[in-house]
Amino acid sequence: MRFLLLLLAFPALAQLPTANPPVVAAHALVVSAHPVASQVGRDILKQGGNAYDAAVAVQFALAVVYPVAGNIGGGGFIVYRDHSGTTGTLDFRETAPAAARRDMYLDKAGQVVPGLSTAGALAVGTPGTVAGMDVLHKKLGKLPWVNLVAPAVRLARRGVALTAKEAAGLNRTQADFTQHNPDKQPAFVRDAPWQAGDTLKQSELAIILERIQFQGRTGFYQGETARLLLAQMRAGGGLITQTDLDAYQPKWREPLRGQYRGYEVITMPPPSSGGVALLQMLQMLAPFDLKKLGYHTPAAVGLLTEAERRAYADRATYLGDPDFGRVPVQQLLAKSYNQQRFRGIRPDAPATPSAQVSAGAGLPRYESDQTTHYSIVDGAGNAVSCTTTLNGAYGSKVVVAGAGFLLNNEMDDFSSKVGVPNMYGLVGGVANAIAPGKRMLSSMTPTILVHNKKLVLVTGSPGGSTIITSVLQSILAVVDYGANAQQAVAAPRLHHQWLPDQLDAEAGALTPAAEQLLRQRGFNPQPRNPWGKLDIIRVLPGGTLEGGADPRGDDAAVGY
Ligand code: DON
Repeated sequence: MRFLLLLLAFPALAQLPTANPPVVAAHALVVSAHPVASQVGRDILKQGGNAYDAAVAVQFALAVVYPVAGNIGGGGFIVYRDHSGTTGTLDFRETAPAAARRDMYLDKAGQVVPGLSTAGALAVGTPGTVAGMDVLHKKLGKLPWVNLVAPAVRLARRGVALTAKEAAGLNRTQADFTQHNPDKQPAFVRDAPWQAGDTLKQSELAIILERIQFQGRTGFYQGETARLLLAQMRAGGGLITQTDLDAYQPKWREPLRGQYRGYEVITMPPPSSGGVALLQMLQMLAPFDLKKLGYHTPAAVGLLTEAERRAYADRATYLGDPDFGRVPVQQLLAKSYNQQRFRGIRPDAPATPSAQVSAGAGLPRYESDQTTHYSIVDGAGNAVSCTTTLNGAYGSKVVVAGAGFLLNNEMDDFSSKVGVPNMYGLVGGVANAIAPGKRMLSSMTPTILVHNKKLVLVTGSPGGSTIITSVLQSILAVVDYGANAQQAVAAPRLHHQWLPDQLDAEAGALTPAAEQLLRQRGFNPQPRNPWGKLDIIRVLPGGTLEGGADPRGDDAAVGY
């Protein structure tokens, strides 16, 4: 009884849960979703490559060793900061093919046809990854391009040992692979189930990568690789043409910048929604002393949830590709706007039902995940934060026949129909409607934090709609609660995305008492399986690098 009273009086987790010690490195560090990809990056750094060289090498290595999300058939975003403080972002997001139409996923009655935007050739956006790596290397790289693609070629040809999680992922997807590749069985398919330790060889992919190694962008967007990709499109009813491949251009964009408790937050602008939403939430939370309110206490969680609800409601209404319509970024980031949006919210206030924040309710919720993030800091202090994706696990499940690489299903990130949720349960407005050549709205939030002009944090995560709140929580863990890098990534997470009106909670994120108190205040906590994979680097005041590799995956920090 005394224990119960004590629990009710202190429903909080007193502090961040403990975690394994973080990996530390004196010079340079790579944190990615796969130990082999992290090692590839570390080797490039040791050979005198910079963080941008390492990013190119890690991106291509992940396309081989982490096919669930690593890719050459997808896209992504990079936020970088060089050792002198210069910052920038690279958008290599996929685009809608020229033949795409706003209503292409609707039937005659105007209803969304289930599955059309999520699997098969029609779900594929024009890939941006190879073009993105090409311009990244040309602008910022140091080592020869051939050296950076070489490890991926080798890994594809010799094969890599599968981890237990990868074997399980491939086994789960066998039927989809077979369905969407009826004419030719991809390397991922075999009769006996995959086991941990089995070698996955990808000889066709090795040839494509070798072509990219020696021909650069041309080796993907033209010639034999393009021919195979276009044949795959024709066979499966996809829309991408040679004109789309020729027209694809990555874009350098000015980063978004915000302030949070004296830290400068440098993050991704539209067509990602991540940076806008992250900076809005940080502004809403800034007036409150979260540390004093306690870690994952009902008071702190209530504030977090209210901030998330509002930012996601704005996301749904206003955000889309800025090259196709005006996106009111400055207005959304104005201090007065966010103060107004958070007026009347107190740590002990009853929950605001999402239906009152904006119209709509009761939407279904889907789970799917795979995207991947890597963080790199080199010996000179250059930093790369990159999130890259095929969208869903193994993307569209379509493997280009004869070329062995997976194509994305990024078209599902558009709103197929205003107000109808996509595979992450996200709703969107006309700002994110499909149009030829347009980039679909993303949640990917590669982010860098600086304090007194010094690099302090490189962060990012996969997780669809949950990416933005995972990145937010990594920042709060480090800045407000004093977490080390590994604690910040390991800590159980919470997520609210306005619609559906529920507070997703990983096991251990809330004590039973905190959960009960939140419920009494009108919040709607719901248990949910683990999500996201934060891979972050924290720079300690003396310059030591501390890596946080998410224990939810096979993620690894490797440095020297
Ligand atoms: O760009 C986006 O927001 C989504 N395509 C990301 C998908 C994702 O993170 C899946 N992952 N776990």
